[in-house]
Amino acid sequence: MKGVILAGGLGTRLRPLTSITNKHLLPVYDKPMIYYPIESMVVAGIDEIMIVTGGNYAGDFLRLLKNGKDFGLKKLSYAYQEGEGGIADALSLAEGFAEGEKICVVLGDNIIEKNFAKAAADFRAQSVGAKILLKEVHDPQRFGVAELDGKKVVRIIEKPQRPPSNLAVIGIYMYDQHVFEIIKTLVPSDRGELEITDVNNAYIKKGQMTYEVLDGWWTDAGTFSSLHRAASLVEKGGANLPPAGVKDRFNTSRT
Ligand code: G1P
Repeated sequence: MKGVILAGGLGTRLRPLTSITNKHLLPVYDKPMIYYPIESMVVAGIDEIMIVTGGNYAGDFLRLLKNGKDFGLKKLSYAYQEGEGGIADALSLAEGFAEGEKICVVLGDNIIEKNFAKAAADFRAQSVGAKILLKEVHDPQRFGVAELDGKKVVRIIEKPQRPPSNLAVIGIYMYDQHVFEIIKTLVPSDRGELEITDVNNAYIKKGQMTYEVLDGWWTDAGTFSSLHRAASLVEKGGANLPPAGVKDRFNTSRT
């Protein structure tokens, strides 16, 4: 399974910080934000990654990450998204990179305490479809929210006023090779974007969506308060902690 990290967007909620750089290059405690999703993927056994970015600072990703060797990556590719077409539009740029393999997509501002190695292993063994990760939150209105019927996800509602549960769909998604066909059928939402939630609902309709609930904390980092929270969570305990028995490669900041 290959990895795609979506690191575009204007980061308008973080201006003026994002007036001079891309959101995903801002510091989260002791590392640039983009380090965290890369390390999450490496801990989950993914060593070929494409970063999709855009805007005026795309070249800085190459300056910072180079060929990805420092993270132990076999391959690090880059794609440039023109305009603000949304998460699913950004993902469509990875079709050639995926070469028909399964892909794991991580939103570049999502940071996790532990790892999704088990979910990734389960998805590698899943014959078709998609997998999402859910996490209980106290403010589900801010996210895509899963409606469950027993053990099945029956629908995802993007930023619902009246959430059907407190289970947010976090920004870590796994898809089979049909994801790119699904994206081609999407129409822009009210905010003018191709929504990842529409991709996920298409898999739910086909009866091919599975989910797992993430262990450990999860946060996004796209607002001042979530960026601050992310930094203090990382300071307290590190991020991307590996499964038991696996060497901790990335948490240099922890004492
Ligand atoms: C996006 C997705 C949303 C998901 C969230 C996770 O929202 O649309 O479904 O819950 O990421 O971080 P955005 O941050 O683009 O508003």
